[in-house]
Amino acid sequence: MTADLILGIETSCDETAAALVARGTDVMSSVVSSQIELHRRYGGVVPEVASRAHVELLMPVVAQAIVEAGVEDRAIEAVAATHGPGLVGALLVGVSAAKAMSLVWDVPFVAMNHLEAHLYAAFLEEPELEMPLVILLVSGGHTMLVVMEDHLRYRVLGGTVDDAAGEAFDKVARHMDLGYPGGPVIDELAMQGNASAIAFPRAMANDGWDFSFSGVKTAVINHVRKHPDTDVRDVAASFQEAVVDVLVDKARRAARDVGAKGLCLAGGVAANSRLREKTLDVCVADGYRAFLPSRSMCTDNAAMVAAAAWWRLQADGPSPLDIGANPSLRLPVIG
Ligand code: KG4
Ligand code: ZN
Repeated sequence: MTADLILGIETSCDETAAALVARGTDVMSSVVSSQIELHRRYGGVVPEVASRAHVELLMPVVAQAIVEAGVEDRAIEAVAATHGPGLVGALLVGVSAAKAMSLVWDVPFVAMNHLEAHLYAAFLEEPELEMPLVILLVSGGHTMLVVMEDHLRYRVLGGTVDDAAGEAFDKVARHMDLGYPGGPVIDELAMQGNASAIAFPRAMANDGWDFSFSGVKTAVINHVRKHPDTDVRDVAASFQEAVVDVLVDKARRAARDVGAKGLCLAGGVAANSRLREKTLDVCVADGYRAFLPSRSMCTDNAAMVAAAAWWRLQADGPSPLDIGANPSLRLPVIG
C-alpha cells in the first residue's frame, strides 16, 4: 500500500512533534515543541511531566504542522506515530492520538519504531543514498552501529554495553553543573578548550563493535573532583574528544569491513560539531561519502517518523489498531 502524504507524530521522550512529509522525502512542515524548559529544573526528563505536556501540546502542534504545510485535512493519506522505544506514557499520547485521527479521517495508521525513524532522517535530505550504508546511531538512549543493506533491511553490528553516548554527555554535564541537556553545552564549551589537555580513557577502542562510555564518564567525574581548578573548557573538549574518537574509529572500521558506500550519522549526538567534523575527515580520507543530516533532523522530530513510515507502509501495510506502545521495542533486523 502507498500513501503519498503522511502525517508523522513523535512523542517518545521530551519533544512533541508533528510533520507532513510527501513520498518519504519532501518535508512540507516539521513542527517540534521542546519540553526542555519544563525538565531543566529537574536535571533530566521526568516521565509523568513529559506525558502531561504531550497531552497539552500535541493537538496544537499537529494543527500547526497542517497549517504550515498548507494542505486540507482530507489530503492526509496516512497517520504514523512512534510506538517505541521510549517512555510508555509519552508514547501512548502520540499513538492514541494517531489512531483516533486515522479513524476519523479513514486513513491507515502506521506504528513506527523510533530507531528506524532516526535511520531515515538522512534520506529526507539525500533521497538517493547508496547502500550498503554504515549508520552510527547515537542518541540519549541509544548507541548503535548499524549496517543498512537496503531499505528496511538492517544488521546491528554493536551497541553500548552501559551508558548511551548522549547519556554520558548529559551525566558529565549534570555532574559539572553545566545544565541540561548536556550535549549542546559541552559541544559549545569544547570549542574553546584544548582537546588534548587531559587523556581520558577510550574504552573498548580496538575491541569488537560494542561501546562503553561509563568509564570515561567516571574518569571525568574523578578528574574534576581531584582537580577542581581545571579549566572546564579543557575538560569538556578532552571528554568530547575521547567519546568522538571511539565512535568514529569504530564506524570507520565498520565502513571498511562491509565495503560501505557511505557513512551516516543519526540521533541527537549526531548534532555534535566535533563528531560531524571528524566523520567528514575520515570519509574524505577513505574515499566514501559522509551523510550528516542537518542538526534539526538529528534530534527528535516527526519528519523522520513520516519518512520511515512511507517505506514501512509499502512493505507491511497499515498497523492494526490494537497495537500498543512498546517502551523496549528493538530495531527489526534481518537474519
Ligand atoms: O535523539 P535525541 O533527540 O533523543 C533521544 O532519542 O535520545 O537525542 C538527545 C541526546 C541528548 O543526550 C543530548 O545531550 C544529545 O542528544 N545531544 C548532543 C548534542 N545535541 C544533542 N550531544 C552532543 N553534542 C550535541 N551538540
Ligand atoms: Zn531519538
